Amino acid sequence: MTTADDPFIAVRDGARHRALAELAAAGPVHHMRLATGADAWVVTGHAEARAVLTDPRVVKSGASTSPFGAELPAELVTALDSHMLNTDPPEHTRLRRLVSAAFTRRRVEALAPRIERICDELLDGLEETLKAEGEADLITAFAAPLAITVICELLGVPPGSREDVRAWAGPLLAGRFAGYEAYHRASEEMVAFLRGLLADKRRAPADDLLSALIAVRDGEDRLTEDELTSMVHLLLLAGHETTVNLIANGMNALFADPAQLALLRAEPERLPAAIEELLRYDSPAQVPIPAITAEPIEVAGRRIPAGENIVVALLAVNRDPARFPDPGVLDLTRDAGGHLAFGHGVHHCLGAPLARLETRIALAALLRRFGDLTLAVPAESLERLPSLIINRLATLPVRRGH
Ligand code: HEM
Repeated sequence: MTTADDPFIAVRDGARHRALAELAAAGPVHHMRLATGADAWVVTGHAEARAVLTDPRVVKSGASTSPFGAELPAELVTALDSHMLNTDPPEHTRLRRLVSAAFTRRRVEALAPRIERICDELLDGLEETLKAEGEADLITAFAAPLAITVICELLGVPPGSREDVRAWAGPLLAGRFAGYEAYHRASEEMVAFLRGLLADKRRAPADDLLSALIAVRDGEDRLTEDELTSMVHLLLLAGHETTVNLIANGMNALFADPAQLALLRAEPERLPAAIEELLRYDSPAQVPIPAITAEPIEVAGRRIPAGENIVVALLAVNRDPARFPDPGVLDLTRDAGGHLAFGHGVHHCLGAPLARLETRIALAALLRRFGDLTLAVPAESLERLPSLIINRLATLPVRRGH
């Protein structure tokens, strides 16, 4: 297999789906070497994915969390990676409960008017760019600044630092593909930034999630310093890159299918269900954080020994023909419930309500204001960024007119 047809890092748009469909046709679980050089059991079947994601013998503790393992200073790894996504119950239960207490649905829903205003301002900018230059990248002009602004406002990250956070997110999510130097530098700068930010909030608490996290207690329990920096790191990264992809991958899928786009424009009340189909059709996250087998397990009749890496290929699972008929067809009228784009089991995405709210507001505003928005380049020229974790377009150039 070459990089061009690797099921996780192929860059040509559509290549990962093609490679995964081929793999899935051969069975629901596969032992293979990942582009990082690690061997893993890759699960492509929907039923099998649900089973491994809820199997207590498939665990995060002991799996390698840092893409550079022992090369990276341990102090940086613990400051960034001591978060719920890398832990198992009961530790996971404790960390998730501490943040859920501050991360309430009420807090998320109260953000709607503010998200609408942020969208409107960004779309004013997009309109000007389109007028002046004829085309614009929907990711840098709209999806990315929207998602970063929302999560930073929620947490209480000052506006002046948001560009830095975006810049660090690149190498941190690209992992090994960023190279050691860039990954190390981004980790160091992120940790220094998070510690400074926490010190500021301790001095002057505000009405934001970060101040709430510092204050949050569960009986005698509270978050340690490493748990706090890791929690904010997780929320900052998980809270924006994936939402960017849902908006961009979603619009890309709609541009490629004018009939479905026309349906959504004509009947915007379909948006909530349509978003579930967009999550299924071209999922923003490629894999849950890899886990390992603590004991031998059996998947689809194959015995997997203890200590092996398990990777669930979400792009394949959400297009499993045994679960979703004609899975490669975008059908906004289908019931896409049961997709695993937000993961499954105890680690099911904490931010799913926020991601759905943000995307609903973003797509509604975009479709309402730009009735004639279209792709500005041939669809075959679109590329994905290499990363084992996220399914992200490099750019999505758009223009007005048919
Ligand atoms: C479309 C947008 C999003 C997608 C597709 C997505 C996807 C996922 C997935 C697949 C997982 C499970 C990972 C695993 O099992 O290893 C997850 C977990 C998580 N997500 Fe999201 N996410 C999105 C948006 C968000 C947002 C906006 C936030 C925060 C505000 C967020 C915070 C989290 C957290 C904290 C976890 C860890 C939960 C745990 O370990 O218990 N996500 N997400």
